[in-house]
Parts: sequence; C-alpha cells; structure tokens
Amino acid sequence: MAATKQLPAAAVFLLLYLAIRVRSASSALHEIHRGFSVTHDSSYTEFQPLLADPTGVFSLGFLRVDSSQLDLAVLHLPSTTALWRAQASRSVLWSASVSLSFNGGLVLSDSATGMLWSTATDAGERVVLLNTSNLQVVGSDAVLWQSFDFPSDTLVQDQNFTSTAALFSRDQRFSMRLGPSYLALFMELGGGAAPVMYWKHSALEAKGQIVPDEGPIYARVEADGFLGMYQKATLVDVYSFDSFNRRIAGLRRLTLESDGNLRAHYWNGSIWIQDIQAIADSERCEIPTTCGAYGLCKPDDTRCGCLDDSVQEGCLPASSGDFCGSGGSEFGVLRRKGVDLTSKDLMASQKVASLEECESACERNCSCWGAIYNNASGFCYQLDYPIQTLVEADDRKEGYFKVRTEGGSGGGEAVKRARVALLTVGSLVLSGTMAFGAYRVWSRRRMQASVDEEGLAPGPYKTLNSASFRSIELSNSLSDRK
Ligand SMILES: *[C@@H]1O[C@H](CO)[C@@H](O)[C@H](O)[C@H]1NC(C)=O
Ligand SMILES: *[C@@H]1O[C@H](CO)[C@@H](O)[C@H](O)[C@H]1NC(C)=O
Ligand SMILES: *[C@@H]1O[C@H](CO)[C@@H](O)[C@H](O)[C@H]1NC(C)=O
Ligand SMILES: *[C@@H]1O[C@H](CO)[C@@H](O)[C@H](O)[C@H]1NC(C)=O
Ligand SMILES: *[C@@H]1O[C@H](CO)[C@@H](O)[C@H](O)[C@H]1NC(C)=O
Repeated sequence: MAATKQLPAAAVFLLLYLAIRVRSASSALHEIHRGFSVTHDSSYTEFQPLLADPTGVFSLGFLRVDSSQLDLAVLHLPSTTALWRAQASRSVLWSASVSLSFNGGLVLSDSATGMLWSTATDAGERVVLLNTSNLQVVGSDAVLWQSFDFPSDTLVQDQNFTSTAALFSRDQRFSMRLGPSYLALFMELGGGAAPVMYWKHSALEAKGQIVPDEGPIYARVEADGFLGMYQKATLVDVYSFDSFNRRIAGLRRLTLESDGNLRAHYWNGSIWIQDIQAIADSERCEIPTTCGAYGLCKPDDTRCGCLDDSVQEGCLPASSGDFCGSGGSEFGVLRRKGVDLTSKDLMASQKVASLEECESACERNCSCWGAIYNNASGFCYQLDYPIQTLVEADDRKEGYFKVRTEGGSGGGEAVKRARVALLTVGSLVLSGTMAFGAYRVWSRRRMQASVDEEGLAPGPYKTLNSASFRSIELSNSLSDRK
C-alpha cells in the first residue's frame, strides 16, 4: 500500500530532477551583467534556471511554488530544495509574464503589476552565484547585496545569521530571531502584534563570554556539525548536531519548517539526512500551534484534544486581534482545570492572592485573551494573544479563556460561529484521572468522527460524551458540521 503510493512520487521527483539537470546544463549563465533581462518561459514546468554556480550544484531561477505561483529562488539542484527565495511582495502566477532584469540591481517584475522584488541596489556591475549558494550583486570594489543577508526559511553552512535578519517558515507562521544572548523561535501573529516566543536557546558561554557593548551576537552553521553563536570572533555557544565532529562532507542546512520546528540536515550525496530538531517529537506540545486554537496537548504522547472537549477538528475557531476598541469586545468564557502554558518560563507573570484575582485582571483587560493561575505558586500568567494550544497539567493549574462570541470580528465560517454561540459559560472540574480518561474518550471519538466523515455509520457521540464534561454544552456541534 505504502510502496504503491511512494512510487509515483519518486518517479515525479526523478523526472523533475532530470529535467532540471538537463536544462540547467544547457541554458544557465555563470555571471549576469548590466543590460541583462529575461522573461519567464512557462514551457519550463517547475524551474527555469538563469544563473549557475561554478560547481553546478546550485542554480538561481524562476521556481514554481505552491503548485501555481512563481518565485525567484536559489535551488540545490541534486535535491531540488529551495535554499533561498526572494519572497516577492505579491504572489504571482507561474503563467504570468514575469521578468528578471539587471541594471545595477536585480529586479523581478510582472508586466501587468510592476515590480515584485528587487535588491534595491543601483551600482552593481555583475551578479554571481557562489559555490556556497550565496547570490551576490557585486560593484566595482565591494559586494553590494547578498542573499545570505536575506534568508527565507533556511540557513546554509557558512551563512552568518545576524540580529537584523529573521528566518520565516514557508507559511510565515513562525520565525527565528537572535536576541542579545540567545536564539529563539516565535509564533507570528500578524497585524503588527508582537510574536510569541516558544523556544529559546541561550548561549552557554562555555568557551567565551558575551561582553556587553562589544556588538551583537550572530550565528552560523559550521561544517563540523554545529550551530555556533559568536560575538565578533569569539565562540560563545556550540549547539551541536547529531553528526557533530563526524567529518561529514555534504552540505548542511538549518530550516525553520512549517510545523514550527527547526531542523538541521546534511546532504549525504543522495538524500537529506536529518541531523537535529530543536523540539523533540516527545516535546511537540511546546509548539503552540500543535493542536491548533483552543487545543489541548497531552505531554506524554503529544496527542491532541480540545480545551472544551469538543470532537471537531480545530476545536473552537481561531481568532485574531483583541477585545479593545472596534474589533468587538464581547466574549464568552471557558474555564478548565489542569491546563498550563507550553512555555511558561518565557512569559511574564505576576503573583496574585487568588484565582479570582487572576481571572478578573484578565477579564478587565481588553488585550488579555486568557490567564493561567497556578494555585501552588500563586502566579498568574496572562496571555495577550489569541488562545493556541495549551498543555495538560495537574489540577492546581487553572485556565480562564475568552472566546469570541457572535458579532465579534475574527473567527471562521458561519458554522463555527454558530458553535461559539452555543458555548455556555461554565467551569470544568476534572480530577487527574478524569482528564486522562477524556483523552482516551477523545481518541475513540476522533476515530469515530473519521469513520463518519467517510460516509460510514454515524457514531454514538453523545454516549461517548462523559457526564463529567456536561458543564460545557456543545450539543449541536456535530450536526453543525454537516
Ligand atoms: C568554493 O570556492 C572557494 C573560492 O571561492 C574555494 O576555495 C572552495 O574550494 C570552493 N569549494 C568548492 C566545494 O568548490
Ligand atoms: C561572516 O562573518 C564573518 C565574521 O564577521 C566574516 O569574516 C565573513 O566574511 C562573513 N561571511 C559572509 C558570507 O558574509
Ligand atoms: C544516503 O543515505 C541513504 C539512506 O540511509 C543510503 O541509502 C545511501 O546509500 C546514502 N548515500 C550515500 C552516498 O552515502
Ligand atoms: C493588560 O494585559 C497586557 C497583556 O497581558 C499587559 O501588558 C498590560 O499591562 C495589561 N494592562 C493592565 C492595565 O493591566
Ligand atoms: C488551592 O490552594 C488552597 C490553599 O493553598 C487550597 O486550600 C485549595 O484546596 C487549593 N485548590 C486546589 C484546587 O488545589
């Protein structure tokens, strides 16, 4: 079964690979000079090579992305992996009349809508693609622009990652940035909202200290198999990969992937071998989107449920913005015991006298989406972003969550809005064992739900819905979906 599914994929990959190899050998330049202009030829099905590096391993060209769009990209030809993408300001169809020109700066433009992207330089004399995959616009005596300073989702070996750059996952939902003494992953919220940190690696400073006022730190993937953090020439941290010091000759890359995880790989000559992932499979609950909006992640086996115990894929609808001003100030409240933040140590907190105090601070604050109160420590954590995945915890951690009600902005389709309206304010009182039971129930219901979706027998959802979860009634949620 699996083999028959993989075969066509492998064949397509091989054909694509061969097509790129053959055409790149015959048509790509090694240097671009002033006056250069080329229009996209859509007879190329996946990639139109324009500029090759001296080794023939990398190529700059028009790449087909997301099945129908076009972007300018630097490809690692043996794997057809895009190591860099221009990320044009507007999306443009593969069939559009797009051209790339060079008259001091590289300019990507669409004949219908104008400039899509440029290097914003005007004194360049030539463009070269180095054997590191770095694309450079070179002037009379200096490099004026290089793709290494504008990474997309990937860093390659020997590429300096500075605090002025950020890595974004392909879907733009996650970013990686450098702080004064650490490297961190963030969930992007869009709309000018501050991103939310969910993973942080602080420099250990074992070999060298970070000296204040000695300039910002930067990071670089090294051939020896680690991500080094440096201040000037001083190595202040070694984040080692599995192949650390194993003398791997193949190209290394570090990519922020669309599941929010950061992974290193090396090329073994025929495939990319995964070398490390920042967040282990067993810690997937730490990625705030793992179980979606209002999701609940069980740390033992990273299984997903919902804060409101609903059985729908996606739990309650995702929201955006806040409750201040015109965005809509009405909300319902969902309470749940036994939940905690995934990355509490990265969040601000305040000590309060009681759960009530924690909740009312959030209730009164229009930028607050929810709060977690720790009855053991007395700390109150306020979430100032739309609720994402929380993690199951012991009963001393109590959650209070705002849910946008009908008429508020954000939210999804009408069906989902109807569901929110059904949500009644309630409080779940679950013992630890009951919460565990809920997961078992949940996975059975989920199985049943998927059977149902395939048009087989409708399942007895109600009977599976344990009486202890009755305080939140979502009685029509399943028929709503139809
Ligand atoms: C890449 O180019 C540099 C000089 O520009 C050279 O020293 C190095 O050996 C080259 N590497 C490969 C793999 O060709
Ligand atoms: C990376 O930074 C080091 C140290 O500042 C510098 O010597 C090197 O040229 C930089 N590499 C690139 C590709 O910019
Ligand atoms: C790369 O790894 C794959 C899978 O482990 C292996 O089959 C292949 O032989 C390796 N290629 C080289 C050139 O070592
Ligand atoms: C409201 O909540 C935000 C985010 O949690 C916080 O930064 C702000 O200080 C709070 N405002 C008040 C008045 O408590
Ligand atoms: C919270 O803490 C108080 C005082 O320490 C205790 O009396 C109460 O039972 C705790 N509540 C829960 C749900 O653990």
